[in-house]
Amino acid sequence: MPFKTFLFSTLLLMCFFSTLASPHQPLKTYIVQLHPEAMSASVFASKHHWHLSFLERTVDDPSSRLLYSYESAMEGFAAQLSEHELELVRKMQHVVAVRPDRVHKVHTTYSYKFLGLSPTNEDGAWVKSGFGRGSIVGVLDTGVWPESPSFDDHGMPPVPKKWKGICQQGEDFSSLNCNRKIIGAQYFSKGHRVASSTPSESEFSEYLSPRDSHGHGTHTASTAAGSTVPMASVLGNGAGEARGMAPGAHIAVYKVCWYSGCYSSDILAAMDVAIRDGVDVLSLSLGGFPIPLYDDSIAIGSFRAMEHKISVICAAGNNGPIANSVANVAPWVLTVGASTLDRRFPAVVRTGNGKMIYGESMYPGNFHLDSEKRVEVVYLAGGDRGSNYCFKDSLPRDKVEGKMVVCDRGVNGRAEKGQVVKDSGGAAMILANTEINMEEDSIDAHVLPATLIGFSESVQLKSYINSTRRPTARIIFGGTVIGRSRAPSVAQFSSRGPNFYDPVIPKPDVIAPGVNIVAAWPQNLGPSALPEDSRRVNFTVMSGTSMSCPHVGGLAALIRSGHPNWSPAAIKSALMTSAYVTDQYGKPIMDADKPAGILAMGSGHVNPERAIEPGLIYDITPNEYIIHLCTIKYTKSEIFTITHRNVSCQDIMKKNRGFSLNYPSISVIFKSGMNTKMIKRRVTNVGAPKSVYTVKVVPPEGVKVRVRPSKLTFTRSNQSLSYRVWFISKIPTGSKRVKFGQGELTWVNTKDNRIKIRSPILVTMSSNKKHNT
Ligand SMILES: *[C@@H]1O[C@H](CO)[C@@H](O)[C@H](O)[C@H]1NC(C)=O
Ligand SMILES: *[C@@H]1O[C@H](CO)[C@@H](O)[C@H](O)[C@H]1NC(C)=O
Ligand SMILES: *[C@@H]1O[C@H](CO)[C@@H](O)[C@H](O)[C@H]1NC(C)=O
Ligand SMILES: *[C@@H]1O[C@H](CO)[C@@H](O)[C@H](O)[C@H]1NC(C)=O
Repeated sequence: MPFKTFLFSTLLLMCFFSTLASPHQPLKTYIVQLHPEAMSASVFASKHHWHLSFLERTVDDPSSRLLYSYESAMEGFAAQLSEHELELVRKMQHVVAVRPDRVHKVHTTYSYKFLGLSPTNEDGAWVKSGFGRGSIVGVLDTGVWPESPSFDDHGMPPVPKKWKGICQQGEDFSSLNCNRKIIGAQYFSKGHRVASSTPSESEFSEYLSPRDSHGHGTHTASTAAGSTVPMASVLGNGAGEARGMAPGAHIAVYKVCWYSGCYSSDILAAMDVAIRDGVDVLSLSLGGFPIPLYDDSIAIGSFRAMEHKISVICAAGNNGPIANSVANVAPWVLTVGASTLDRRFPAVVRTGNGKMIYGESMYPGNFHLDSEKRVEVVYLAGGDRGSNYCFKDSLPRDKVEGKMVVCDRGVNGRAEKGQVVKDSGGAAMILANTEINMEEDSIDAHVLPATLIGFSESVQLKSYINSTRRPTARIIFGGTVIGRSRAPSVAQFSSRGPNFYDPVIPKPDVIAPGVNIVAAWPQNLGPSALPEDSRRVNFTVMSGTSMSCPHVGGLAALIRSGHPNWSPAAIKSALMTSAYVTDQYGKPIMDADKPAGILAMGSGHVNPERAIEPGLIYDITPNEYIIHLCTIKYTKSEIFTITHRNVSCQDIMKKNRGFSLNYPSISVIFKSGMNTKMIKRRVTNVGAPKSVYTVKVVPPEGVKVRVRPSKLTFTRSNQSLSYRVWFISKIPTGSKRVKFGQGELTWVNTKDNRIKIRSPILVTMSSNKKHNT
């Protein structure tokens, strides 16, 4: 396309020219937040004009610098400024805060059955919620492949009257691509475009439209609310009927992620529009590292969304098992970690000495290696080219041709390693977990016969390779097997607490399926997502908290359909207090080789069948979040940045002595020299009008727990009752190391003991006096 190339080179020239004109003034994108009341007294025709006026005072061509004008998710705008202009803008009247644009990363056929959802159970969550009928799930991601059978709108109800969004035209995308399933689709690329080099440098060609060229957004949108597709599979594996968590809900697509990542200016623009469009749920499978709430555009935009009764669901991140790695931790956001399913894809390695080494693969059976034939195995450790990781160009053809190559997991992509082996003439690949991944299998649709083995198996395999002059092996593919392994367990990559910036709010909140999830896939990409992969599929397998997040996004839509008046906090409470902490054998959910704790799984694994009728809920008003921000000692201006409210924490704290946020899980911090602590909670009856609950406590080790009252008698629905909990620690504080203890507090319905409202308790013995309480 010579015309395009010409356009790009002209642009390049212009950039070059303007850089020459002001050599010390490169432009960067900033998000400028304004005082929302300031405009009413002013003379501007519109928000847009008002926002431009800030730039008019500093730059020559203000409209070329203004990227976005925000009003619903935040008051303010995104603009490109030089360092000098930034200083001028910062000092202007009505400017509340200025933040640099930040880049974030994007962090089924079967998972609905594992979650106990059944389309025929009259008492089940799907039937009770009409399959999420009428709810609208907004998905902020890489866009969508609308022709996927998962977005067929057969049997969908009409577009809800409250919907105000659009179906935006663009490259290979028209209004005909929206239907009753995908009711809206828009793209936001300005922040990405000014921050990135010309698109010709991108690895993939990208559609400048809501169309998905990466696959991630198609996968997540179909997980949340995909239609039912019979006979879905990945090249024959994991076959079954595919459906999203809320198959009756509508999808609104907001494309904010591009090859360079997802810019906060674009994310905020999408949230701004989504709030006005009328979504019920926002699902964000993206994020970065933890940052303070007043610096976090997602936290700020989601506060506004919450005020508009929109549930915001975010991925916890894939930086586990490192402590403090959990991101998207605002108390008004539902933060989701990842768990495993009990579905396996065995592909066993049989070594020359007759030993079997367990592995997993989704390589299609019909591409089988000749299973009678062993081939030589090689593991190229040592050297500085990264050949143990199978980096690009690291495998000498004469050493790997026709052989089975062992590649250590990590650094480069799993599927990419397979392509490297194939390009060097290798016949097959064994992906070997390292200590970081332990025994966790994250499988892929590889481009050659391959299997993935756990860490202890990789030690076994490597010592076999060491033990003989000519090691050989073959891979025996076993198809799809369900139910013969312990599940769920916490995924090793799932980001962990404690919550670094707000330790009284335990995060993540829940875990949901995020390992080897099968969902929809664009028809112009191979199942491995590699540019070299010419196979075509409608479904593929992916792993990550990115996959867990839309599961919960869909479940939030189900609860919203069943209870249209519930607040986001009530929906979140239902999902948290009904979560379970034991696996399908009744044993504790595991985290590698130990039982999983609150820091790994929050309240536990989501349980939609119980969440739809939770009995009691912990509700939270927007004002209570503000009181909470005062208790964690945020300043007036930080609170203003997040909430756009002008508050005096001094007055608030005077009126709310001993306040504790009515959160569905409990975290208590004993600072050095302190041994008692009291918290308050308030539950609202959403079950039978007359119901009685008694409390059951499992105290953390070394801590006495007293609950008053220990019995709650409700006489009507929607009635709220309060209780207090005292924690008396018998553990001496002041030790050098921070210690954690765990327990739980559960309200049990006296008539129906299946109705249980469980809150996990996290106790922290802090050595740090500065810790907030
Ligand atoms: C294999 O042998 C080499 C040296 O001969 C040694 O450094 C390495 O640790 C051995 N690896 C395993 C997995 O036994
Ligand atoms: C994918 O779905 C489309 C539309 O339903 C269908 O035409 C196509 O054959 C499917 N492709 C595969 C590989 O199953
Ligand atoms: C915030 O409220 C205080 C009084 O409580 C007032 O003096 C101040 O001007 C207000 N600030 C803004 C920015 O509205
Ligand atoms: C429940 O009570 C709250 C306040 O106590 C009230 O705002 C709300 O409208 C009530 N909801 C119903 C369904 O009665």
